[in-house]
Amino acid sequence: MCGIVGYIGSNDSKEILLKGLEKLEYRGYDSAGIAVMNSEGVHVFKEKGRIADLRTAVKPDVAANTGIGHTRWATHGVPSKLNAHPHQSSSARLTLVHNGVIENYDILKREYLQNVSLKSDTDTEIIVQLIELFVNKGIAVEEAFRKTLSLLKGSYAIALLDSQNEETIFVAKNKSPLLVGLGEGFNVVASDAMAMLQVTDQFVELMDKETVIVTKDKVTILNPEGEEMSRDPYTAELDASDIEKGTYPHYMLKEIDEQPLVIRKIVQNYQGSDGELTIDKDILNAMSQCDRIYIIAAGTSYHAGLVGKQFIEKMAKIPVEVHIASEFSYNMPILSEKPLFIFISQSGETADSRGVLVSIKELGHQALTITNVPGSTLSREADFTLMLHAGPEIAVASTKAYTAQLAVLSILAEVTARYRGLKINFDLIQELGIVANAMEVLCDAKEEFEEIAREFLATTRNCFFIGRGIDFYVGLEGALKLKEISYIQAEGFAGGELKHGTIALIENGTPVLALATQESVNLGIRGNVKEVVARGANPCIISMKGMETDEDRFVIPEVYEILTPLISVIPYQLISYYAALHRECDVDKPRNLAKSVTVE
Ligand code: M6R
Repeated sequence: MCGIVGYIGSNDSKEILLKGLEKLEYRGYDSAGIAVMNSEGVHVFKEKGRIADLRTAVKPDVAANTGIGHTRWATHGVPSKLNAHPHQSSSARLTLVHNGVIENYDILKREYLQNVSLKSDTDTEIIVQLIELFVNKGIAVEEAFRKTLSLLKGSYAIALLDSQNEETIFVAKNKSPLLVGLGEGFNVVASDAMAMLQVTDQFVELMDKETVIVTKDKVTILNPEGEEMSRDPYTAELDASDIEKGTYPHYMLKEIDEQPLVIRKIVQNYQGSDGELTIDKDILNAMSQCDRIYIIAAGTSYHAGLVGKQFIEKMAKIPVEVHIASEFSYNMPILSEKPLFIFISQSGETADSRGVLVSIKELGHQALTITNVPGSTLSREADFTLMLHAGPEIAVASTKAYTAQLAVLSILAEVTARYRGLKINFDLIQELGIVANAMEVLCDAKEEFEEIAREFLATTRNCFFIGRGIDFYVGLEGALKLKEISYIQAEGFAGGELKHGTIALIENGTPVLALATQESVNLGIRGNVKEVVARGANPCIISMKGMETDEDRFVIPEVYEILTPLISVIPYQLISYYAALHRECDVDKPRNLAKSVTVE
């Protein structure tokens, strides 16, 4: 969602800010802006639309060594130039960018700002106007900033400029991600290290409710009591090439192709010196001592959780419930006596999941986060973390993170099973190797999936994904992939459930994509395909080798049965990709969506 950048140093800040915002584009946004400050004052440039539009609006002749920038994903107020950040106080002395949601903005407006004429519909403008209100009462900017923060309820990452203090960027964060990057003679601010890798790989994490005074030579972190905190920087272990598309037309295609490599990397990373798969002992103890696991996640990560439940129950024999994060907060089930929570989140920043993490920690329960982003909020706040090692995932549509989540969940299940003295009658390292090879075969079959996309999805209004058992869960993920990037109404259904209502939607030519990879339900799903065909559907069956029939459109290589979701999802990823291309959709940045969903 919204992204923040800031730079203070000796170089012209405009290009650094714009490049930084380009690196944050993947998070999803609908408008963008920068404010740069020099001895003449603060110059604000903003535009609705893409960074490319902002670039053309920025005056090249304004030189300034200090600046802040923002990509906005609209929450309060429509996407427009007026609502785009940065926002300024009435006198234009103060300029601010904000990521997050101020829940009590309306109350603050009524209580403090009746006499201020607001220019935008945003909750953000309240913050900058409040700071100015206190400054006008004679309070210094830094103090006014802290006083304002103490009134805010909700989430925020903020960067603030004071036109009377060219030497400083004021920064604060609560619940929304924000980092300070360190350089020689300059310092930077960013929602994500990727944005500022162009100038530094040294970053300092900020804790909730801290404020930071950033000058070009110094970074002063203050806790909520105003005490100075010292914190060592960490090196962002990102290769600049990881975040480039290279020769690929889209990040999504690059990330689909990276999947075999990611699986091999995960196996390597989880292999101990004895060559066995291994997991931290504390995690294994937590897994073994709990009486029930609660998996909490959203979107694609939730779909990975559904498959993860099968892994853990079948291998480690621990009961698992899987919950949608945004629902869990309101409908908390009666918890077992010794629950263990597993949060699955590619970004580690999803606000819905974080909301659950905060409440279960208040109840004193243990949590494990499975994430792709080291140092992310969900990782920091959980008791344990397992990394995905998938490398940065930039496309909004999650692909390699999903298969990485499945691989890590399978390893967690297998190692826990062995730790509990249970017998595992297959070699997971070997089977994941076979999965990686099968993924390569599928990635090499792009033309066939492009053809399927053209034949079944070029003009359709809707599409159904059906499956039974584990194939049903992959169908849910396939449907999410297709709808989010091609805007085709797509739904995943359990094959046996069609006759209870959904089959009424089948018309002549309705595309129905069916997976048949599980021996135990092969006949059942083929029966369901016959039912929809009898009502005019256009079926596309993707089966696994050994189970294929003449009517199948594509046969995927054989892998160990429980691991099939790792490969059966790839046809769906590629079909969705090509369907979106045919429809001329913005594959990597689909409308209305954000990569990192940091509001509840
Ligand atoms: O970062 P997370 O895994 O917590 O994100 C959860 C969802 O927002 C995410 O999986 C979303 O559904 C993807 N865009 C799907 O491709």
